Amino acid sequence: MKRHLISAADLSRDDAVLILDTAEEMARVADRPIKKLPTLRGRTVVNLFFEDSTRTRISFEAAAKRLSADVINFSAKGSSVSKGESLKDTALTLEAMGADAVVIRHHASGAPHRLATSGWINGSVVNAGDGTHEHPTQALLDAFTMRRHLAGAPDGGPTHHQGGGDGTGRDLTGRRITIVGDVLHSRVARSNVHLLHTLGAEVTLVAPPTLVPIGVERWPCEVSYDLDSVVPKSDAVMMLRVQRERMNAAFFPTEREYARRYGLDGDRMARMPEHAIVMHPGPMNRGMEITAEVADSRRCTAVEQVANGVSIRMAVLYLLLGGAVLEPAAESAETKAENPNSRTEESK
Ligand code: ASP
Ligand code: CP
Repeated sequence: MKRHLISAADLSRDDAVLILDTAEEMARVADRPIKKLPTLRGRTVVNLFFEDSTRTRISFEAAAKRLSADVINFSAKGSSVSKGESLKDTALTLEAMGADAVVIRHHASGAPHRLATSGWINGSVVNAGDGTHEHPTQALLDAFTMRRHLAGAPDGGPTHHQGGGDGTGRDLTGRRITIVGDVLHSRVARSNVHLLHTLGAEVTLVAPPTLVPIGVERWPCEVSYDLDSVVPKSDAVMMLRVQRERMNAAFFPTEREYARRYGLDGDRMARMPEHAIVMHPGPMNRGMEITAEVADSRRCTAVEQVANGVSIRMAVLYLLLGGAVLEPAAESAETKAENPNSRTEESK
């Protein structure tokens, strides 16, 4: 693992599988009555949010607390950012607080990269969503959710393509994942395309032509404008939110027209294979990209994705801040004691 997590595109298959497998261990902790590990005791995690968030912010906080880290939550609203303080001066302030990891969400694409390469802080930087660029922990929690439903499970449906494999029995090779909607403004779509490609899945983007990014032909995926032709061949259909706050023009004629052509309703869902799941990163626009019937159906994993986000973020913080302990060769007696596997009995 590298020191920072800025982009899903930076993750090798081994890195991604290590995070997903570690998250499985972390999920087991969440099933216990006492959900805490002492692993990051004495470490400080700062959540630095310049843009609104519900799921990502609270799940990073829960993840850091479950690993016993000290957590500082910073939100730009109500801070000295409104007095004009720069990212640099904010970062230097955090450094003075002794931040071991900074989790940053920012409206500007590239802000986490800037923080990681500036030398302003010494800790690890985790991208919690930057502009329209990337949201790597969302892609990881999505892949985790897909592995649980689709990979290696007896009812997981057919594997369309043989070969490859990550050797875990939880392999997404050949799984067909369809990502639908406002791809142009979606950091979730970009991160998912990269990560799912790395994990061997076959990704198709479906969107109106106006919401397909320029240069998409260089992304490792297919593009379609016809949702009905793709739905019956999908193992997972991931609906994206229409991101009004990032739109400065009319990208489609009316909401009704959008919902009719690119929304997921009960009729379309019924044409998905029986084992296929519906995903949504949240927040949802009910009645726009997804009907309430679909959002509330048992095939929709939106709430489960949120729960899985805590396990993924625990795994990411654990590996970035104390990661060497999962590599057996580097495992000392002291670090071994901090391994979540070796804490199982003690923490019960
Ligand atoms: N919550 C996700 C993000 O921040 C998706 C969305 O907002 O639509 O990228
Ligand atoms: N999925 C997601 O990132 O949600 P929030 O914007 O609420 O954090």
